Formats: sequence, structure tokens, C-alpha cells
Amino acid sequence: MTIETTTHAEQILRRLGIEAENHGAFDGSWIPTSGQRIESLNPATGEPLAAVRTASVEDYDRVARTATEAFRAWRTWPAPKRGEIVRQLGLELRRHKEDLGALVTLEVGKIKTEGLGEVQEMIDMCDLAVGMSRQLFGKTMHSERPSHRMYEQWHPLGPVGIITAFNFPVAVWAWNAAVAAVCGDSMIWKPSSETPLTALAVTRIAARVLEANDAPPVFNLILADRTVGREMTADHRVPLISATGSVTMGRAIGKAVADRLGRSLLELGGNNGVILTENADLDLALRAVLFAAFGTAGQRCTTARRLFLQKGIAAEMKERLVQAARSIPVGDPMEDGVLMGPLVNQRAVDDMMAAIETLEEQGGEILTGGGRIDRPGFFVEPTVVAATPHMPITCEETFAPILYVFEFDDLDEAIEIHNSVPQGLSSAIFTLDLREAERFLAATGSDCGIANVNIATSGAEIGGAFGGEKETGGGREAGSDAWKIYMRRQTNTINWGTDLPLAQGVEFDVG
Ligand code: UN1
Repeated sequence: MTIETTTHAEQILRRLGIEAENHGAFDGSWIPTSGQRIESLNPATGEPLAAVRTASVEDYDRVARTATEAFRAWRTWPAPKRGEIVRQLGLELRRHKEDLGALVTLEVGKIKTEGLGEVQEMIDMCDLAVGMSRQLFGKTMHSERPSHRMYEQWHPLGPVGIITAFNFPVAVWAWNAAVAAVCGDSMIWKPSSETPLTALAVTRIAARVLEANDAPPVFNLILADRTVGREMTADHRVPLISATGSVTMGRAIGKAVADRLGRSLLELGGNNGVILTENADLDLALRAVLFAAFGTAGQRCTTARRLFLQKGIAAEMKERLVQAARSIPVGDPMEDGVLMGPLVNQRAVDDMMAAIETLEEQGGEILTGGGRIDRPGFFVEPTVVAATPHMPITCEETFAPILYVFEFDDLDEAIEIHNSVPQGLSSAIFTLDLREAERFLAATGSDCGIANVNIATSGAEIGGAFGGEKETGGGREAGSDAWKIYMRRQTNTINWGTDLPLAQGVEFDVG
């Protein structure tokens, strides 16, 4: 790291209130945590940015108590007033967009526009949630009984546990937090231990907004290990756990929450496929696939990992793909022009190298890439692999820039192979043929939570509900009616007459 970039990083950290050593829990004030010391590394250099002490089970208990108290007060605020707080949060995020985006780049290794884009996603979520705060609609029904009225209303749910992953360290918090806040819930955020600093910075910003409005501490933070995570998932005080991460993690959380009959919202692994037919606009498809496969260094849960090429265009597209993958500028994500930064840590590099070995053993042919890049930090090459559906590794999510390329004869076959993996997050088809596009979107088509035509698998907008089927966990976050999981539904029947007719014609004449 040069002296100049050190200074630049330090300035960003300082402006966001991050010290060299930081506490890892917040419940309206910072709790002096004394657990493990975690150094957050810049993956582009391997150098530490700052350190945080993790929280203990006792610290968690304090935060959960505060969140429970805060909920009791917050739920009495009218929803549009809660929306006003979220509107101000959006304004504060706008004010800090440059620094926060840069911190995402420093801590995760995303390129600059993606770091900024992540903060933009938070801002967009705030705007969306402000609107939602006046639209938490319930339905009214016609009662079968005379002089009766029926309707349903949505009430705040309680403290929500939000577990986020390193790859969208702040946007996914905002998907949950902006919506949960207008819904009247308090929160306990448990961020990835890979990305504590972005979480500290966001918590500081959110806390300032609450304080300025004398609002209760609804945005709480706990940076802690799995023991504390288990405490939270088993905690009856927390009716909803929203978790983003691996299938293994989600399975454990899902079971723990189900065991106490709580609610979980799981957003787990993807193994997203793109189908290119002979009727595709190949230039458009190529650009889209390159971003989806190698953008964010292949570390989105929406990353395109499987590409299905129809036979007639397969040879040409493989050639073009390989050329293009080789031309992707890989390097320090802080530098202009770089399109692919590092993986998040050494373990991610090791996992990718292990996957490369396995895929070769299983008969995969590396068309380009496959190696680590010899420089400080955690850099790897964009990798394209000629694969067959029989290779078990193509059914796994390796969180790295590896794209498996398959060939197919007809669309039915492609859809069948596409749907044969355990995950079901995002999917896409490239075709200018209406019948092919509709076939892919039909009930017999893609089995994923997201299915696109002529855009690839990643980079979803927040207006839609985001999430996937099968082992992806079934949860939906962000837009549409995803807010409903953050509230409890109550069905109300009101008799404004003088008789007491029973439903279904039941008679019970007594008294
Ligand atoms: C994730 O990787 O956890 O659609 C979420 C996208 C982003 C979200 C990805 N908006 O790629």
C-alpha cells in the first residue's frame, strides 16, 4: 500500500467515525465489547484497515433488551411518522454516499461504481420504504352475516434479527431495515465478521437520525461469533430472523427458528443459469453475461455461474467469451478502469482453487483463467470452463468468478438441465423469439424466484421482491409486498347490529 492510499483510506474511515480500535455492539450507545479482536482487511492489499472487538452473549442480551423496549415505543409511532425517519436516513446516506461507497470498496473489494451502487441501493430502499409507510394496506371483506364488517390490519411484529453477508454488507441491511422500520419493528443487525467497518459506519449514521428525532433505538448492532448468533436465532424475543448467506448457514438458522416456531426469511445460495438460444442478440448477451459472471468477482448470490449455449452458436460464443474474459481489467478496485477486484479473503481464494482442482478431476476443461494472480491481496483470474451437466461441482455454488459453459440442442433440454440444481435464485434467457421467451417464463420454465429475458441474472432492482426457491430458502426481501413478513396480520370482525348470527348457519340458542 502506498502512503497516499493509506492516507486516503484513513481519511475515509475518520470521516465515517471509525477508529483504529472499535467496539462491536450498539444499542443507542456503544457497548464496550471485549471479545475477539477482528482485523478488517483490505482484500486488495491484505493490509488491516481497523479492528473491532466482538460482543459476548451478555452484550447480546443487553442489545435484545433494548431492542424489545425500543419496539414497544416505536410501534406506537404512526407508520408515516416512522417513514419520515427513514426519509431522513435516506438523506443522510446521500450525504455520505461517496465515503460509504469507498468504504465498501476498501473492505469488500468491490469496484468503485459497485461500492457507490450499493449505497445507492440503500438510498433507493429508503425512498421505497417512505412510500410504503402510507401503503401498508389490509383488505376488507364482505361478511356473510348482516350488520357485520370484516377487515384485516397489519401490526408491527417485534424486534427483527438481521444477519447479513459480506458481499452486500450494507444494501441487504437496508432491504430489511428500511422496511422493518416503517413496519414498526426494531432491529438487531448481525453483520458478517468480514465486513464490520461498513456496519459500524452505517449504524453511526442511522443512530444520528434517530437521536435527532428523539426516536427509540431501533437500529441496533451486534458484531459477534456464531455462539451469539445461535443465541439470537433461538431467542423468543425476536419473532423474525432474516438471514442472508450460505445454504449451510441457512439450514442451521431455519431449523433453530422453526424449533421455536418463529419466522425466518432466508436468502441463501444461488447457482444461476443463463440460456442463450440461436435467436439471441449475441452482442447484448455477451456483455450481459460478462457482468453477471465476473462482476463483483463472481461474489453475488445472483452471479451467473452456468451458461447454456445452443449448439449453432456455441463455438463462436465460447471463443468470444474467452477473449472477453481475458480482457477484463483485474486490479485494485479503487483504480478507475478496473472492472474486477479481489476475492474477499484468502479462504475464498483457497476455495476457488479447490474447486478448480475438483472440476478438472470431474472432466471440466478450463478455457481461460483458473489461477490466482501473483500480487498482494486476494486476486484470481476470471475463469471459463467447458462443462457437462454430469459434473457434480456444477451443482454447487463456488463463490468465485468461475463460469461453467454447457451446450444444448433444444430449449426443453436446456430448461431441464437449468432446473436440475438444488438452488433456485435467479435465471435468464437471451432470445428475440417470443415463444422461447414465454416458454422460459411459463410454469414449466425456470423454477427460480427471478427469471429475466435479455438481461442477465444479477443486478436486480429493489422494486421487485428479491429471493429464490428450493435451497435458496424461499424468502423475499425489498419491494412489492415483501413488507408483509415484517408485520403480523390481524383479521377483525365487528358486529354493529343487535343480533348474534353465527357463521356457517350454526345455531346456539341459549340464555
Ligand atoms: C446478494 O448477492 O446477496 O441482484 C444480493 C443483485 C443485487 C443483490 C444481490 N441487487 O445482484
